Amino acid sequence: MGLPYRFLIRPSLRFIDSEKAHNLTINILTKMAENRPAQKILSSIYGTPNLPITVFGKLFRHPLGLAAGFDKSAQAIGAWPALGFSWVEYGGVTRYPQEGNAKPRMFRSNKDNALINRMGFNNPGAQKIRDTLTQRQIAGKWPNVPIAANIGRSKTVDNDRAPNDYAETFGLLYDFADIFVLNVSSPNTPGLRALQEDDHIRDVVRSCKSVRDRRSGLKPILLKFSPDLPRDDLLSCAGAALSAGVDGFIASNTTISRPPPNSTSSRNFYAEQGGLSGRPLHDKSIQMIGDLYDSIGGKVPIVGCGGIDSTETAWNAIRNGSSLIQLYSAMVFQGPSVVKSITKGLKSKIDNSGFTDLQEAVGYSRA
Ligand SMILES: Cc1cc2nc3c(=O)[nH]c(=O)nc-3n(C[C@H](O)[C@H](O)[C@H](O)COP(=O)(O)O)c2cc1C
Repeated sequence: MGLPYRFLIRPSLRFIDSEKAHNLTINILTKMAENRPAQKILSSIYGTPNLPITVFGKLFRHPLGLAAGFDKSAQAIGAWPALGFSWVEYGGVTRYPQEGNAKPRMFRSNKDNALINRMGFNNPGAQKIRDTLTQRQIAGKWPNVPIAANIGRSKTVDNDRAPNDYAETFGLLYDFADIFVLNVSSPNTPGLRALQEDDHIRDVVRSCKSVRDRRSGLKPILLKFSPDLPRDDLLSCAGAALSAGVDGFIASNTTISRPPPNSTSSRNFYAEQGGLSGRPLHDKSIQMIGDLYDSIGGKVPIVGCGGIDSTETAWNAIRNGSSLIQLYSAMVFQGPSVVKSITKGLKSKIDNSGFTDLQEAVGYSRA
């Protein structure tokens, strides 16, 4: 764990409400992101090794990116590469501004290395985020790493009108990301996860593709799944999305299921409603990555996400079929140095295991 985080930031964050701690972190990072000397200092502490891989036709310096939900309004996108991430997913963004659910809506259990959130897509809306990102581009402060945008359905829009809602946000953000993620898997927007049904998913993917057909660049469109989807439904939805022309998958979002609690404090924590992330999600997300990899046979890349908090968990995701990986919860529990420790660990695994590069390790356990 990095010294600045361990001694200065984490002790103060422990004692305040999870969402306030989160907002404080984002505000500090936003200031740092605008300041080149501060970025240099961060890079010298948190710099990560190169472990290159080309995915979606793009070169990633190493596979580990920041998962959606941390930087919902794309406020701090300049800071994340300085903390070692090789790519960044901002959002969830919805077409219309949303307050999200009532607070408190984010909970953490240090004992379980887990978070529960029921944020409900709080965000300033696609137009406002586009304005923020336009300013960043004009100021010449666009980060030099692949950027992904996570798109959710507006709460006030029903599923029949969802294809249009996603497509409008997609169109507004098209010039402000390299990769797009259709999030049909958050448990905190009523009815959203029903979009993982085959016909719905085809319509959502096709309507975004028809916007893309009118623009340049053929930017990849990924689909992010819920870990609560039964295996048969997952594979059927993946097949439908592939037939509609999707370019990749993310497994997975947070889960509404809960492990058996092993203490009173865990029992109280797990009783909170919302999506669970972090260590208890890992095994389920690995199972999904493996199932998807076996079924789609390398047709499109998979991004692994869920409880990645160490070299071993990251390696697990890669050898079961992930070309790229992401984390959220581990940033909360371990701070930014987790990015460096995971990537250094992955590099020595590759160097010591006889693989010529990372690409060769993707899915090797499934062969
Ligand atoms: C507070 C919070 C907010 C999140 N918001 C989003 C979101 O807007 N869109 C999305 O696709 N996933 C969202 N996620 C899910 C994460 O991107 C990720 O899929 C999940 O946390 C599992 O990864 P982890 O175990 O490394 O945290 C959110 C997670 C948390 C904890």
